Amino acid sequence: MTYEIDKSIMRCRAFAEAAGYTKSALALKAGLSTGTLKDFWQDHWSPTATTLRAIEALIPLGSTILPDVALAPMNKGLLTGQRILLIIGGGIAAYKSLDLARRLMERGASVTGVLTKGGAEFITPLSVASLTGHECYTDLFSLKDEADMGHIRLSRECDVILVAPATADMMAKMAAGLAGDLATTVLLATDKPVIIAPAMNAQMWAHPATRRNMTTLKADGIDFIDAAEGMLACGEVGKGRMADVMDMVAHIEAFFIKPMASNTSLPLPLRNKHIVITAGPTIEPIDPVRYIANRSSGKQGFDIAAACAALGAQVTLVAGPVNQPDPIGVKRVNVESAREMQAAVNQALPADVFVGVAAVADWRAVHDVAQKMKKEHTGLPALELVENPDILATISQRKQHRPSLVVGFAAETQNVADFATAKRKRKGCDWIMANDVSASTGIMGGDENQVILINDKVIDYWPKMCKKDVAEKLAQCIADHLENLNAARRFSAK
Ligand code: C5P
Repeated sequence: MTYEIDKSIMRCRAFAEAAGYTKSALALKAGLSTGTLKDFWQDHWSPTATTLRAIEALIPLGSTILPDVALAPMNKGLLTGQRILLIIGGGIAAYKSLDLARRLMERGASVTGVLTKGGAEFITPLSVASLTGHECYTDLFSLKDEADMGHIRLSRECDVILVAPATADMMAKMAAGLAGDLATTVLLATDKPVIIAPAMNAQMWAHPATRRNMTTLKADGIDFIDAAEGMLACGEVGKGRMADVMDMVAHIEAFFIKPMASNTSLPLPLRNKHIVITAGPTIEPIDPVRYIANRSSGKQGFDIAAACAALGAQVTLVAGPVNQPDPIGVKRVNVESAREMQAAVNQALPADVFVGVAAVADWRAVHDVAQKMKKEHTGLPALELVENPDILATISQRKQHRPSLVVGFAAETQNVADFATAKRKRKGCDWIMANDVSASTGIMGGDENQVILINDKVIDYWPKMCKKDVAEKLAQCIADHLENLNAARRFSAK
């Protein structure tokens, strides 16, 4: 099977899973006979090009299902030399693990697969082996495996073990310390860190037994890539879908980067905190080829995202169109317009902290013009504008699920501290980072920044620093603030 067909199959499965189609509903929608989709979730399913085209035709245009993302240059070799043992459990999400393996390998990791009996119901050892370039191990008692690579060696000769999908059954076995097959034996015998990506039906996820197992596994030091919410393959809605592949990649990058970045045995102060950051400009279409834009490079926001991730935070970076590589260990969501940015931010919430660094366009064209405006038709066009939603103000003024800390930026060209103080009050955010962006300062698009941190108590003038240092100082201030809030809560609870 060619790579293109393989990719098309994965795209169709990802679409069916995301849209919650059962096989018969999908067949009906695509105008196919149910029999054609009999083995849809199985690795040996070999559809004709016509079948694939019929399903692909259902995928909305512009959908980001399995996009072929061009890797940012800096991230290409990020996992170089890291050895990942990927245990693939028995769930529909097993097919996503093939894409996961590919993404990890693109970043330089070497991936070896272990397929459970259940996993092999969905994908074959052959597809895992051909994708990873290593033998895929399945059988605890296979003499060949034992002679070639015993299960103890298998469990030790890697830098991390990743279980994806981790079914409820696999988690129960891990929590109980059972070792009845190769995967569980490896997990019991290993001295390496273990990361698991659960995937199951919502009821199974919520079941007290699963909750207990999770608590046990977390106490045992197992790292979790949290399951996502949404339509499940079984047709029910709720929590239990395996995390998106790119979320898993970000988690694994962060896992490898943090020990290097922190270079200390101290606990990471932003661990378990979710921080949503906007960065870059937004662009607002005038017609299909023209748009309103601004000069923001996104650099400061990207540096803040990287600095927060390096302190252990789970970071979602909602970025306008910029030419910046993905920060390490950060989930990046690309958007173009202010309205898309607002939708992506809302989707990313809840969060402990929101930092609005983006230079969101204040206005957009009133009309979405479908055709290119022709200059000969109308003479000078009247460009009618309407105000964009204020993302920072909306989040600051939330009554429910407001992040504990909301930080805005104020780019001013005069009376910086006064204008920014007024802006903080007007928008309702907790802190505002003010800076002078007059052309003479070279801050917009440059490498340095000089900011003033303003809150309800202080106006703190920071010296001129490179944007990376500003980012690290701000990330530390955020960590200190959350720690103080925590301490205050503990004190008032006494
Ligand atoms: O009003 P002004 O654009 O100067 O406010 C700057 C701050 O507000 C920045 O933090 C920016 O990210 C945020 N902002 C926003 N949505 C807008 C305009 C600004 O989140 N529509």
